[in-house]
Amino acid sequence: MASPLFFLLLLQSFLVSTSASSTTSLLNQTETLLKWRASLDSQSQSFSSWVGDNPCNWVGIACDRLGSVTNISLSNFGLKGTLDNLNFMAFPNLIHFDLGKNSLYGAIPSDIVNLSKLTFFSLSANNFSGNIPKDIGRLSSLAVLALAMNQLSGSLPVSVGNLSNCQHIWLYSNKLSGSIPSEIGRLSSVIDLHLGGNSLTGTIPASIGNFSNLKYLYLSTNQLSGSIPSEIGRLSSLNVLTLHENQLSGSIPSEIGRLSSLNFLDLHHNQLSGSIPPELGMIRNLNTLDFSRNSLTGMIPKAMGNLSHLGFLYLYTNELSGSIPREIGMIQSLFHLELLENNLIGVIPTSIGNLTNLTILNLGDNKLSGPIPASIGNLTRLTLLQLRNNSLSGPIPVEMNNLTVLESLQLNDNQLTGRVPDNVCLGGSLKYLAVRGNHLTGPIPRSLRNCTSLYRARLEENQLEENISEAFGIYPSLDFIDLSDNKLYGELSPNWGLCQNLTSLMISNNKLEGPIPPIKAFLLAPFDALKNNKGLCGNAIGLLHCVSEECQLQDIFAIWGYDGKILYENILEATEQFNSNYCIGLRGYGNIYKAALTTGRGFAMKKLNPSDDNQSINLRAFESEIHALAERRHHNIVKLYGFCSNAEYSFLIYEFVERWSLRTILSNPEEAAELDWDKRLNIAEGLVSALSYMRHDCPSPIIHCEISSNNVLLDLDYEAHV
Ligand SMILES: *[C@@H]1O[C@H](CO)[C@@H](O)[C@H](O)[C@H]1NC(C)=O
Ligand SMILES: *[C@@H]1O[C@H](CO)[C@@H](O)[C@H](O)[C@H]1NC(C)=O
Ligand SMILES: *[C@@H]1O[C@H](CO)[C@@H](O)[C@H](O)[C@H]1NC(C)=O
Ligand SMILES: *[C@@H]1O[C@H](CO)[C@@H](O)[C@H](O)[C@H]1NC(C)=O
Ligand SMILES: *[C@@H]1O[C@H](CO)[C@@H](O)[C@H](O)[C@H]1NC(C)=O
Ligand SMILES: *[C@@H]1O[C@H](CO)[C@@H](O)[C@H](O)[C@H]1NC(C)=O
Ligand SMILES: *[C@@H]1O[C@H](CO)[C@@H](O)[C@H](O)[C@H]1NC(C)=O
Ligand SMILES: *[C@@H]1O[C@H](CO)[C@@H](O)[C@H](O)[C@H]1NC(C)=O
Ligand SMILES: *[C@@H]1O[C@H](CO)[C@@H](O)[C@H](O)[C@H]1NC(C)=O
Ligand SMILES: *[C@@H]1O[C@H](CO)[C@@H](O)[C@H](O)[C@H]1NC(C)=O
Ligand SMILES: *[C@@H]1O[C@H](CO)[C@@H](O)[C@H](O)[C@H]1NC(C)=O
Ligand SMILES: *[C@@H]1O[C@H](CO)[C@@H](O)[C@H](O)[C@H]1NC(C)=O
Repeated sequence: MASPLFFLLLLQSFLVSTSASSTTSLLNQTETLLKWRASLDSQSQSFSSWVGDNPCNWVGIACDRLGSVTNISLSNFGLKGTLDNLNFMAFPNLIHFDLGKNSLYGAIPSDIVNLSKLTFFSLSANNFSGNIPKDIGRLSSLAVLALAMNQLSGSLPVSVGNLSNCQHIWLYSNKLSGSIPSEIGRLSSVIDLHLGGNSLTGTIPASIGNFSNLKYLYLSTNQLSGSIPSEIGRLSSLNVLTLHENQLSGSIPSEIGRLSSLNFLDLHHNQLSGSIPPELGMIRNLNTLDFSRNSLTGMIPKAMGNLSHLGFLYLYTNELSGSIPREIGMIQSLFHLELLENNLIGVIPTSIGNLTNLTILNLGDNKLSGPIPASIGNLTRLTLLQLRNNSLSGPIPVEMNNLTVLESLQLNDNQLTGRVPDNVCLGGSLKYLAVRGNHLTGPIPRSLRNCTSLYRARLEENQLEENISEAFGIYPSLDFIDLSDNKLYGELSPNWGLCQNLTSLMISNNKLEGPIPPIKAFLLAPFDALKNNKGLCGNAIGLLHCVSEECQLQDIFAIWGYDGKILYENILEATEQFNSNYCIGLRGYGNIYKAALTTGRGFAMKKLNPSDDNQSINLRAFESEIHALAERRHHNIVKLYGFCSNAEYSFLIYEFVERWSLRTILSNPEEAAELDWDKRLNIAEGLVSALSYMRHDCPSPIIHCEISSNNVLLDLDYEAHV
């Protein structure tokens, strides 16, 4: 990138520096900066302003009155290279040095420690490696030391303790090892000490109690061991304390209760034991308390009810016992309450209904008993309610119908009776529903019928009783459903064929009957998944072939006066048993037939070729077809009305698009003439829309490669249908 002008300047500086010694200081600066720029692997466009012999005018550089550089600020300049060629001795007056957010690498030059006026030093978010200079403590004016997010290794130099004017020390996300030197306690001005995300070992030095101005202490995600020093209670200005993800043991010092300014306290994932000190209740400003994943025992202190600003309380995965204190209902600011995986006993306090801001309530995997309190219906903002694996009994309160924005409801493995709340998916957000292993009765909840968000559902091992052909909706996202061991009856609705993402299903031990839809989840289902029903049939292991004339149809057929049997017969009649005369198209895996039925309504049928060798390939192709059509709402994709499947024939039934294929039209001069440019443009737009839709949503290559004028159908309005 070096321009001829740049070489000229270099030459000029060289000549001047050897001849005129009075301007050496300035030239030294110019020369040093240009030399460094030339050494970089890649340089920013902004460097193009680095011309002339006065760096004080250059972008990112500032000088004092005497023309001596005080400020080098090249943060986020896209710099790549090292500092090996930057001689700091040229900048004895440097105050501010910021090269953060670049791609610089290599070592931090040790002569930086000679910059006695430096107050701001940042190399954060680069790729520097090696050690922090041993004598860093000589930067006695330093207020900000920011070397975070690099690859620095070795230990924290003892001399850090000499940075007595330093307020912000950011060394997080490096590879620092060794212990924290107790000399750190001499950092009398420090406000923000962030050493998280390293590999520091040893104990937390008691001398941290000296940090009288400290507001932020982050020592999380290291390998610190030993106990939390009680001196921590002297940090009266502390706002944030994170010690999570270490190997700290012993009990939580009650002195933490003295941290009256504390807002955020995170001790999760250590080996802390003993009980939660009631003194915590005195930290009135606390917003977040996370003690999860430790070995804490004893009861949840009643005094926690005094934490009137607490938004997030996480005590999960400990060994807490006793019951949930009624006083929890006083913390009305709570958004998340997670107490799962403890040994909590007793009832869920009614006062929980006071926590109307809760979005997450997780009390699962405890030993709670008694009923779910009706007051839970007050928690209308809940998106996650998890009470699984307790000993809860009694009916699910009707008030739970107030919970309409749930994304996850897990009440499984209790002894609950009554009905699954009808409104569980009223807000259209439900993804996970688990109520298995209770004594629930009644139908499948109403709102589940159009719950298109549903991803996993477990309703097995209850006494749910309903005609499933009416209850089952359209679930494009459904991956897993277990309905086994209930009292469900009736036939499988054609909607099952639209569960394009279903990988696993269990419907055994019910009273279901009729044909299974020809989709992979059914055809490849193990017998255990389907067994012990009243009369399921179809091409799956252990099932009998359907004996005759079995079709599953969308409701619309009923309006037209068809049932499956009549339609099947009509179609066979109208196509003379799929006589080739009615064949209007050929595909690799199936022929398309047209049937004009007696009502005058036309349908197109795609019949699965019964060539035995390729049966599985055919099935897969057949299935892809169903998948592609599952989201039938696209205006330019033909509608799927149902399927018929028996030992003789398996076929899909589509709407019949009235015109012939685009190719037929184009090959007939009269018809082609009618296809003016407006119509052609309309066709093209429809096609583009349908294709982008299919490419986006349907990964099947079978679909992509078959778009030709042959299978673009036009309706009476010359709208394209793929
Ligand atoms: C800067 O000037 C000093 C003398 O003032 C000289 O010793 C040194 O070599 C010069 N450095 C550069 C890089 O020209
Ligand atoms: C140095 O430059 C940066 C960025 O332009 C600026 O924020 C800072 O105040 C300057 N510091 C000094 C001491 O000039
Ligand atoms: C830094 O200063 C010390 C004396 O304070 C000196 O001995 C050392 O040579 C200097 N470092 C460089 C690289 O000039
Ligand atoms: C940092 O350096 C490592 C190897 O030293 C390299 O793999 C990585 O890509 C670099 N990262 C950046 C952001 O330059
Ligand atoms: C800290 O500073 C004092 C006084 O300036 C000095 O004696 C001591 O050696 C320094 N400590 C370290 C570890 O550099
Ligand atoms: C605590 O600070 C005092 C003065 O502020 C200092 O004398 C003492 O050495 C410090 N303690 C530790 C352990 O660093
Ligand atoms: C529930 O909230 C009310 C105020 O809305 C409060 O008076 C009452 O003490 C709370 N109940 C419990 C058990 O915390
Ligand atoms: C509930 O949350 C809202 C913010 O979403 C907040 O304004 C309100 O104060 C909270 N209620 C309580 C009782 O803390
Ligand atoms: C909370 O629920 C209880 C019991 O269902 C009810 O009496 C009370 O009015 C509800 N409070 C609010 C604020 O909805
Ligand atoms: C909860 O549901 C009950 C009855 O189901 C109703 O009376 C009450 O108003 C609802 N409460 C809220 C907060 O929606
Ligand atoms: C389900 O249907 C009900 C009423 O028919 C409607 O209020 C609700 O929004 C629908 N939910 C979804 C997810 O479509
Ligand atoms: C179906 O699964 C695929 C792959 O996991 C995913 O990308 C897609 O979003 C899912 N479709 C729906 C409607 O959830």
